[in-house]
Amino acid sequence: MPSYPLPLDREALEAIADEYPTPFHLYDERGIRENARKLNAAFAWNPGFREHFAVKATPNPHVLEILKQEGCGADCSSFAELILCERVGYSGEAMVFTSNETPAYEYAKAVELGATLNLDDLSHIEYVDRHVGLPETISFRFNPGPERTGNVIIGNPVEAKYGFTREQLHEGYRLARDKGVKRFGLHAMVASNELDGSFFVETARMLFEICRDVAREHDVRISFVNLGGGIGIPYRPEEQPVDYATVGEGVKAAYDELVVPAGLDPLDVHMENGRCMTGPYGWLITRALHRKSIYKEYVGVDACMANLMRPGMYGAYHHVSVLGKEDAPADQTYDVVGSLCENNDKFAIDRQLPAVEPGDLLAIHDTGAHGHSMGFQYNGKLRSAELLLREDGTVQQIRRAETLDDLFATLDFAGVAN
Ligand SMILES: Cc1ncc(COP(=O)(O)O)c(C=O)c1O
Repeated sequence: MPSYPLPLDREALEAIADEYPTPFHLYDERGIRENARKLNAAFAWNPGFREHFAVKATPNPHVLEILKQEGCGADCSSFAELILCERVGYSGEAMVFTSNETPAYEYAKAVELGATLNLDDLSHIEYVDRHVGLPETISFRFNPGPERTGNVIIGNPVEAKYGFTREQLHEGYRLARDKGVKRFGLHAMVASNELDGSFFVETARMLFEICRDVAREHDVRISFVNLGGGIGIPYRPEEQPVDYATVGEGVKAAYDELVVPAGLDPLDVHMENGRCMTGPYGWLITRALHRKSIYKEYVGVDACMANLMRPGMYGAYHHVSVLGKEDAPADQTYDVVGSLCENNDKFAIDRQLPAVEPGDLLAIHDTGAHGHSMGFQYNGKLRSAELLLREDGTVQQIRRAETLDDLFATLDFAGVAN
């Protein structure tokens, strides 16, 4: 079983599907709130702690509103995400703008909203200064290069396009100080979907050491460090979730060892997780349309990669359950496939499942982050609705499904014979 069970049974989901046709993504408000509280509690020792939810994971106003109520900020990566957060009522340092290859108008919008600019390159100090004017607060993204091994998903930091080198960081703080910047931050993200909590403690240690060096060498006091996102989730039933409390304790021990003796306390600790905040609390609900038997056995469903890219794009595992057959023996081996004209449109390959019949509802688990949001429209596929299971048990549609009118809205048919 996945770490966070689907809170509704087949009957309840059939009733929902009567109103909102499959496929749809369903999110669980209770799970999102309880998880956010756990993460915040793990860092309660740091009065300035803030998780800035990575908006790209689930860019929906209702999900953002829930996380805002739980005290989270927002990490934006684009103009659209900035506007979305503005419309949800975010402002000031509750917003971080961690972008790359950024045009001036996006920086200008972030500055207008008071968001913290988390610059991706040394040259962007001059760029922002020239085009927008440097704000009072600025943060830099560190890429540790050969000093650190990344993890499987994010890859080797030397090959990653992001961030400043260590030397550039030093130069950057000096330059920004000389240009009148008053408040400084430091950021790194070197892991993605990392289940080993000690990875984040190591990142904290690395950043605390840089804060100490920068204070010593340039008399620049860094006010906040951002450990990035990247806390993993147990997509596979045999995996264990990261214990936030242990990570919080480990970061506190590093803080007491490095930050306090250097006279840098208080230093605010921030994170910008997406996946662990919403991932386990979302499911893609889809219906089996066909069974096909050739060289392998196939179950064809009414969702496709347009609804969930991760299996096709990364070969990622997502647990699949057949609703109402949770206790039946998983004695069949299927590829569970979508309708895209791409052979990697497979939600599961060689998966042991109970016998599936056309009409069965399937739940694809852990789709609450980087699920709907990574969708696309290749093959004219439409992106699905998003539904929210409220704490009181009601279901709210928080995004309608796309229609052909949405798909064709940017086309110009004028002058084309029909
Ligand atoms: C800069 C940055 N911050 C945060 C995140 C969120 O990562 P995750 O959802 O793995 O926590 C990402 C993911 O792409 C990212 O690129």
